[in-house]
Amino acid sequence: MDPTVADCPSWLATLLHQASGTVPFRQFMDWALHHPEHGYYGSGRVQIGPQGDFATSPSLGPDFATLLGRQLIDLLRTLPDQTGRLSLVEVGPGEGDLAADLQAVLARHAPDLIERCELVLVERSACLRQRQQHRLEGIGGCPVRWCAIEELQAAPVQGVVLAHELLDAFPVDRLVLHQGELQLQGVRLQQQNQLDWTALAIPAPLQKELESSGIVLPPPGSDDGWTTEWHSTLRPWLESLASSVTDGALLVIDYALEASRYYTARRSEGTLMAYCKGIAGLNPLVHAGEQDLTAHLCIETLTQAAAHYGWQLQDQRRQGEALLALGLASDLHALQQLPATELAQALKRRETLLRLVDPAALGDFHWLLYSRGAGADRLSLATGPDNAGSRPG
Ligand SMILES: C[S@@+](CC[C@H](N)C(=O)[O-])C[C@H]1O[C@@H](n2cnc3c(N)ncnc32)[C@H](O)[C@@H]1O
Repeated sequence: MDPTVADCPSWLATLLHQASGTVPFRQFMDWALHHPEHGYYGSGRVQIGPQGDFATSPSLGPDFATLLGRQLIDLLRTLPDQTGRLSLVEVGPGEGDLAADLQAVLARHAPDLIERCELVLVERSACLRQRQQHRLEGIGGCPVRWCAIEELQAAPVQGVVLAHELLDAFPVDRLVLHQGELQLQGVRLQQQNQLDWTALAIPAPLQKELESSGIVLPPPGSDDGWTTEWHSTLRPWLESLASSVTDGALLVIDYALEASRYYTARRSEGTLMAYCKGIAGLNPLVHAGEQDLTAHLCIETLTQAAAHYGWQLQDQRRQGEALLALGLASDLHALQQLPATELAQALKRRETLLRLVDPAALGDFHWLLYSRGAGADRLSLATGPDNAGSRPG
């Protein structure tokens, strides 16, 4: 097991004391990211963007929203009931860039939808909610509201839910192979306010979930110390989302791997990464509340959990392919027509568009389209610039 110790900030030491000194890693990650006062997201300390801690596709400029907007417009137009109100729900909007840019895309390309659509933003961090409200202030488009998932459950909607780089910020359980036995990784408060790792027994409900997944854990050939992540928090979230949406789609865009690449002996340290000021680090225990922690999704476990709550996987592709099918190559070509006076802007946009499809980075993101309810099987991702996505009726 990783012997690394780290200083424990006093707010976390207090919480750990209250929990008898030891908690599963998942609880540590939840506090480090989402504690309302001290967590990296909860406190609003996160800075997303090219000059921030990490850049996401929407934070690079409006081009991503323009391309994704074509897909979302098509999905909204393909939903069965075209008479009622439609909701475009973004969960985890971060700085609010995507929501703001999507408003402009809808106004320009789907004024008919503006009449019938609302934008619903679901954000766990009160600080980020405020930043999003500020970002969207004065921007026209559909009516916007912020709400908790429980409010959606009380009044379910029809529409499309977008989860862009949301689920990689969900707290994960970590499993460690220790002397031939798989154990739950825990975080323990030592004397002199030091944090270090410890091993705990896997609780029965998690053990049951692992056994019913069909994934062999640990994979054959794993050495002692082999470590991986398990997304135990996906199920409750998908369940609450299922009772929030009557008919519609869920588009997950995130770091993801197939189970055969996730749970292998060779991936012996899992996928968990820490990010601070643009630099990736490997020790998740240091700077609790001041650095991002993120873990890749496993496509099969997400899809299994989704299916359990009625979300069927309809389509999937890598971001590079998805964006090319939505017309990225034509957008690149159109930059050549810009006048020489706009050269600097054209070059910057060219760099962004290429970054979005770079197979070694954002282009490798997975787009996973799930749907539920009436007409669910008619929804799909675009297959070419002339077909934004829906299958003919
Ligand atoms: C990695 S950031 C991504 C931000 C944005 N989607 C982007 O791509 O730029 C994760 C976002 O999800 C929010 N978040 C995390 N867990 C959440 C939850 N359970 N419900 C709502 N928002 C959540 C965070 O506060 C943050 O806004």
